[in-house]
Amino acid sequence: MPRIVFVGPPGSGKGTQAAILAKARGLAHLSTGDMLRAAVAAGTALGQQARSYMEAGRLVPDDLVLQILSERISAADAQRGFVLDGYPRNLAQAEALARITPLDAVVAFDLPFPELEARLAGRRVCPVCHTVYNIVTNPPATPGVCDREGATLVQRPDDQPAAIRTRLAVYAEETAPLTRYYAGRKLLRTLDARGEPQDVAGRLLRLLA
Ligand code: AP5
Repeated sequence: MPRIVFVGPPGSGKGTQAAILAKARGLAHLSTGDMLRAAVAAGTALGQQARSYMEAGRLVPDDLVLQILSERISAADAQRGFVLDGYPRNLAQAEALARITPLDAVVAFDLPFPELEARLAGRRVCPVCHTVYNIVTNPPATPGVCDREGATLVQRPDDQPAAIRTRLAVYAEETAPLTRYYAGRKLLRTLDARGEPQDVAGRLLRLLA
């Protein structure tokens, strides 16, 4: 029952690798970003509170995110093991997580800054099935159209240049220090996130073996 956390800057490939690993290992993929975007799309009270923070690239208040994560992590599928992508983002969240569940490994994604910006600027998402594409590195067969749904692909509001800059700055200030926190607890493993997704996935599997 592996309980794995991914920590890494925006655009480093956490969501892409979490989907691959979850499928390969039969784990639940828990993404606080996806949970919050679903709440925004559904127009729930929590989603309405979270929306402006997300669009600006700032962190949603800790109590709201903990509420949504606590519900999801107690679901039946997560009891067989999970990969948690996007939480924790600061020390208070790391301590809250430690009160909810033990962890087996924390993977820190390492990617140079210019590549992060390029990946984020090129990301496009299907509004129906949420498949993630990239106009440069992972384009759909027909430009701008989802291969599965035929829907017009969209850009996340927080993938605009100003929000990207804010997200990278928030990561450097609040989230990056968590690597020291988890290294001190002997949980940290650092992943070289450069290269093709399948190559990164191979390195990730070896790192967790
Ligand atoms: P969240 O959705 O978690 O966003 P993020 O951490 O900024 O990460 P991203 O989804 O941008 O990137 P990723 O690392 O998953 O990369 P991906 O695989 O998509 O959070 C969004 C917002 O929600 C936050 O800003 C905040 O407001 C809020 N939030 C979420 N959690 C929170 C929390 N715990 N506390 C408070 N607020 C919270 O890949 C990116 C692109 O690159 C894609 O186009 C992909 O196709 C491409 N790509 C992936 N891998 C490769 C590769 N190996 N080579 C080339 N291209 C690649």
